[in-house]
Amino acid sequence: MRHLLSTEDLGKDDAVRILDTAEEMAAVSDREVKKLPVLRGRTVVNLFFEDSTRTRISFEAAAKRLSADVINFAAKGSSVSKGESLKDTAQTLEAMGADAVVIRHWASGAPARLAASGWIDSAVVNAGDGTHEHPTQALLDAFTMRRNWARINGTASLGTDLSGMKVAIVGDVLHSRVARSNLWLLRTLGADVTMVAPPTLLPVGVAKWPCTVSYDLDETLATGPDAVMMLRLQGERMNAAFFPSTREYSRRWGFDDSRLKALDSHGLKGTIIMHPGPMNRGLEISAAAADSPRSTVLQQVRNGVSVRMATLYLLLSGETHTAPATIQEAQ
Ligand code: CP
Repeated sequence: MRHLLSTEDLGKDDAVRILDTAEEMAAVSDREVKKLPVLRGRTVVNLFFEDSTRTRISFEAAAKRLSADVINFAAKGSSVSKGESLKDTAQTLEAMGADAVVIRHWASGAPARLAASGWIDSAVVNAGDGTHEHPTQALLDAFTMRRNWARINGTASLGTDLSGMKVAIVGDVLHSRVARSNLWLLRTLGADVTMVAPPTLLPVGVAKWPCTVSYDLDETLATGPDAVMMLRLQGERMNAAFFPSTREYSRRWGFDDSRLKALDSHGLKGTIIMHPGPMNRGLEISAAAADSPRSTVLQQVRNGVSVRMATLYLLLSGETHTAPATIQEAQ
């Protein structure tokens, strides 16, 4: 693996290798080994043209826990405001010693352009591009699901993949790179996916996607999903004429308190409620649902560090094995 640009292009072996390596990384954290020396002398640049809390900070934490140096770049306040191009910005940062560039950009395809351009030699990681993809979010979601799937199934050990798991992805699918990356990865790992949304928030061409499409959240909950992933309503990517209204949206597609109770009445003891964050509490998810024992929101954040450690390790160390020898040495 030279870059991580999308889950659509990620084969099952590479996906499982990242998840298994992330388990090794998590084991290190659980045992309170603070740092691994595996990327000492390497530099990771966080190149963010859009705002972020979770992704940027967890890439920074991941790189530091692997002993890499980190340079954080935010377009706001940089020479991008003077018109500097992506090429010149990336080359400037590489001249300061970048080995990997983690890029978030408002333009779909910007990370792939950077990787294919020959402008820089660094490994490129897509940290979210427009409405296209957010592969490390999908990987941390799959990591979280794989752990919970073992619990739901009552199996002592983790499975390799998510065969047989039923996942509902609910809300603003139209604008969601998280929905797209999750769909491709979940299908690769053998899960069944239902997209639930108002017709106005589904993309043209969704009928060709490898998933079931529903406009009715209550009907979908009655089918017994193992995971319900709520998406953020992306107001910043919409115009004022958005339909349905936020009140209608919340009533019909929000995960509210009555739907939280409905999981119990359907006998769905193990079903988890996911959200990539940031959440619009009271809009796509109620506070009770977000804070309930079924919610994996904070598990997802925690797991994000392990998954991003695994991604940087596999891209930068040249290792193809899942268990770095240095982890064993550090224990
Ligand atoms: N889930 C996610 O990408 O969050 P941030 O925008 O805070 O990085």
